[in-house]
Amino acid sequence: MSVEQYLDAMFGLKGQVAVVIGGAGVLGSAMCQGLARAGAHVVVADVTEPACTAAVNKIKDLNCGASGVIIDVTSRASIEAVLAKAREITGRVNILVNCAGVNHGSDFLDHPEEKWDFVMNINLKGVFLACQVFGKHMVEAGGGTIVNIGSVTSHLPLSRVFGYAASKAGVLNLTRNIAHDFGAKGVRVNCICPGFFPAEQNRKLLDEKRVDSIMRHTPMHRYGEPEELVGALLLLVSPKAGSFITGTHVNVDGGFTAAWF
Ligand SMILES: NC(=O)c1ccc[n+]([C@@H]2O[C@H](COP(=O)([O-])OP(=O)(O)OC[C@H]3O[C@@H](n4cnc5c(N)ncnc54)[C@H](O)[C@@H]3O)[C@@H](O)[C@H]2O)c1
Repeated sequence: MSVEQYLDAMFGLKGQVAVVIGGAGVLGSAMCQGLARAGAHVVVADVTEPACTAAVNKIKDLNCGASGVIIDVTSRASIEAVLAKAREITGRVNILVNCAGVNHGSDFLDHPEEKWDFVMNINLKGVFLACQVFGKHMVEAGGGTIVNIGSVTSHLPLSRVFGYAASKAGVLNLTRNIAHDFGAKGVRVNCICPGFFPAEQNRKLLDEKRVDSIMRHTPMHRYGEPEELVGALLLLVSPKAGSFITGTHVNVDGGFTAAWF
C-alpha cells in the first residue's frame, strides 16, 4: 500500500455526507472545503443565502460535491427541514459539524438580556437542537459523528464576552454528555476549541490593545489560519482514524489554553 493509499484509508471520506451548520462563515467555509477535499459530499447550511451559495461555489471550484441549504439553527423545524433536504439529495448524513456562532461584547453590568438570549439561542440551544435532530437520524441509521465548535472560552474567562463564554462552556459540556449517551449507539461526539482566527466577529470585538495582549499570551504569537482547523476535524470525523475518539476536545489555539494554566 502506498503512502497515499494508507492516508486515504485512514482519513478519506469518500461516500460520506457531511452537513456543516454555519458552513458559510470564515471557519465553516474552510472546514467545508477540507471535508470536501477528503471526499465527502458537503451540505453547506447557513442562515444567509448569498454567503451559502458563495461557500458552495468555492467547493465546486475544487471539483468536489456540495449543496447549499438555508437554516436557522434556533428553529427545530428549520433543522428538521435541512435534514430532510440533505437526505433527499444524498440519502443519509454521516457527519454533522455545528459551526454557527455569534458574539456580543460589553461590560457585565451593561450586557443586555436580549443579547444574552440571542447568543445562547444560536450558540448553545442551536447545538442542542441540531444534535438532537441529526443525532436521532444517525442513531437510527446505525452510526455517525458530530463535531461541535467551542472556543478557548469553553475553558477560560475572557473579558466582555459573558454570554458567549457561557454558551461555549455549555457547548463543551453538552458535547461530553451527548457522547456519553450516544457511546453505545454508534455516534461519536467531539468538540474543537479554536483560539483566535482572523474573522469579522474578532475585528468588531477586539481593539488593537487586546489583539496585542492576545498575541503576547499566545505561545505561537499569531492568529490561526482557518485551514489549520481541518487536520483536527478530519481526525475527529474519520470513521477509521477517529474510531475510538468520543467525548473529548481538541484545542487548535497556538497554545493559548495551555499557556494559561
Ligand atoms: N473566529 C474565531 O477566532 C473563533 C474562535 C473560536 C471559536 N469560534 C467559533 O467558530 C464558529 C465560526 O466562527 P467564524 O469566526 O467563522 O464566524 P462567522 O461569523 O464567519 O461564521 C458564523 C456563521 O454562523 C452563521 N449563523 C449565524 N446565525 C445563524 C443561525 N441562526 N442559523 C444558522 N447559521 C447562523 C453565520 O451566518 C455565519 O456564516 C463560531 O461558533 C465561533 O463562535 C471562532
